[in-house]
Amino acid sequence: MKTSAVILAAGYGTRMKSDLPKVMHPLLGRPMIDWALRAVEPLIAALPVVVVGYGQELVRSFVGERALYAEQQELLGTGHAVLQALPQLDAVDTVLVTYADMPLLTSATLHKLLALYAAHQHDPALALAMLTFTRDNPQGFGRIVRGANGEVSAIVEEVDCTPAQLQIRELNPGVYCFNAAWLRRNLPAVPKSAKGEYYLTDLVAMAVKQGRSIVTADAPLDDVYGVNNRLHLAEAEAILRRRVAERHMLAGVTIIDPATTYIEDTVEIGADTTLWPGCVLRGATVIGRHCTIGPYSQIVDSVLADGCRAVYSVLEQARMDAHAEIGPFGRLRKGAHLGEGVHMGNFGEVKDSYLGPGVKMGHFSYIGNAEVGANVNIGAGTITCNYDGVHKSKTVIGDNAFIGSDTMLVAPITVGEGARTGAGAVVTHDVPAHTTVYGVPARLRTDAARAAE
Ligand code: UD1
Ligand code: CA
Repeated sequence: MKTSAVILAAGYGTRMKSDLPKVMHPLLGRPMIDWALRAVEPLIAALPVVVVGYGQELVRSFVGERALYAEQQELLGTGHAVLQALPQLDAVDTVLVTYADMPLLTSATLHKLLALYAAHQHDPALALAMLTFTRDNPQGFGRIVRGANGEVSAIVEEVDCTPAQLQIRELNPGVYCFNAAWLRRNLPAVPKSAKGEYYLTDLVAMAVKQGRSIVTADAPLDDVYGVNNRLHLAEAEAILRRRVAERHMLAGVTIIDPATTYIEDTVEIGADTTLWPGCVLRGATVIGRHCTIGPYSQIVDSVLADGCRAVYSVLEQARMDAHAEIGPFGRLRKGAHLGEGVHMGNFGEVKDSYLGPGVKMGHFSYIGNAEVGANVNIGAGTITCNYDGVHKSKTVIGDNAFIGSDTMLVAPITVGEGARTGAGAVVTHDVPAHTTVYGVPARLRTDAARAAE
């Protein structure tokens, strides 16, 4: 079987009431079109063909070289959309078609459809295989009409349904696997609907009239969720979040309240880690084992080793080595790296800096462009004055130094190993190892100074 796929993504998404094309709306951090592509990609060797139209610049720039494109200049319906892709499907014998606004479809379900098609492939009359599903609330979906013999006879769009057809609960998710030769012959003959569109779904009645066979398989309810407005978007997102949370829970992560925990599916979490309510974990974040995250923390593109704690804190492109802790109300910005066992308490901010093992930074501090040695104590209110309005400058603090409360370290500056700064010092010159400076501007506390005190 030589298979390719067509993903329909040209529609306006009118009901989204948005400037953004519908398929670019994100779910769990990825645009809907990305979910559609990832479902299809593992199943086909060829590049899928994405049919683009409304907002196509955005769609193309996101999808890039993961797909071929067919442009639908006038949005004349799903049948017309697939027609635009036909010229790029010359070399295949089987065509999978999905809609980009069905972001919950999994590869497993698509695989089931392809397997069904393959199992009936020997039947020369086979026109297509398709998924159907049954739901109490049929609103918004095409109805699957079956004849007295139980065979599918047509898909009728909701707007065209008779009152009796409106009662049908077997529905069309919009996922089909076509015999490519049959599709090429028949798609151009799809009639124009009353609405002036060419419905892909009309191919079903056409196949039946020709005595062709159609096979169907059940799709799981969670897979077949069409997103047409922002209510649907939120509901689809909740299903995706639950899927991701379930995977982590079954792998040994405690999630106290999955409903208020947002974990993108790129995130890795070690066993025996506990997520308290209100956590947002995004991007390339990796969290080790035995960590405690939250309540209420946002961690983006960050790596936390085993045994870390982050409480009411915000981390972005940061690293924490084993048993480091932050919060409540801490912030790690790009390039912040806390060494093993670092303790960062409330209202601390670190950016582009390394804090060595055992550093204590309990309260109200800003450390930027700094390298801080092991076991340094950073007193409350310490600030690295790293920016003069034009340049960023570096602060270096040696091991075991003691930075007194409210010290201003005016960079570039080096504080030597074991050195101390007095409370309120404004340090403008390097501090030699094992000495003490104090005052504004800070000066060395010599023996004479000590005697005079
Ligand atoms: C469609 C199906 C319906 C099914 C439902 C499942 C048809 C005629 N109807 O209805 O049976 O139950 O999906 O969600 O197929 N698109 C284009 N070009 C167009 C029109 C649409 O690319 O000219 C794309 C849209 O971007 C979207 C998809 O096709 O991704 C479906 O279009 P939409 O208008 O949402 O169809 P539904 O009314 O939901
Ligand atoms: Ca739809």
